[in-house]
Amino acid sequence: MDPQRLKGNFAQVATHGMDVAEYFYADLFQRNPQYRPLFPASMARQQEVLLGALVQIVSLVDDPEQLVPYLEELGRTHGGFGVTAQHYPEVGTSLVSTLKHFSGDDWSAELEKDWVEAYGVVAGVMVKAAGQN
Ligand code: HEM
Repeated sequence: MDPQRLKGNFAQVATHGMDVAEYFYADLFQRNPQYRPLFPASMARQQEVLLGALVQIVSLVDDPEQLVPYLEELGRTHGGFGVTAQHYPEVGTSLVSTLKHFSGDDWSAELEKDWVEAYGVVAGVMVKAAGQN
């Protein structure tokens, strides 16, 4: 995985602002309508916190000493939201498809591999902290 490549790609995707989070949830709920009831009726705040968390995670991608405790806390919180290990792969699919959508011609097989790998690590830490591994 190439942290600089990830950061560069994310910085470019993030210029699309809240459209990114909106696209992500639309994709997630289209693929998995059964996930919708886990979330509040109004998704405005959720879109903001998701984007904030992604910015934080990507900025710490090469700083595991800070990233891991952050993800552990986030993982435990998610356990309380009724999120289980089974949900994580679907969220990863929608996240990668969102990044791909906003990357346009800049998307590449290498980027896809980087993101899949990075998401796998993130999800692994969150699930483990929630005690579901
Ligand atoms: C990289 C993975 C993920 C990130 C970065 C992330 C980020 C966040 C953040 C920052 C919050 C707000 C936490 C708070 O209010 O304290 C949140 C809430 C939530 N997330 Fe995630 N999440 C991830 C994975 C998932 C997965 C796999 C699911 C399962 C569908 C999920 C479902 C939820 C739900 C249901 C809430 C609570 C909504 C509410 O009631 O306000 N998340 N997420």
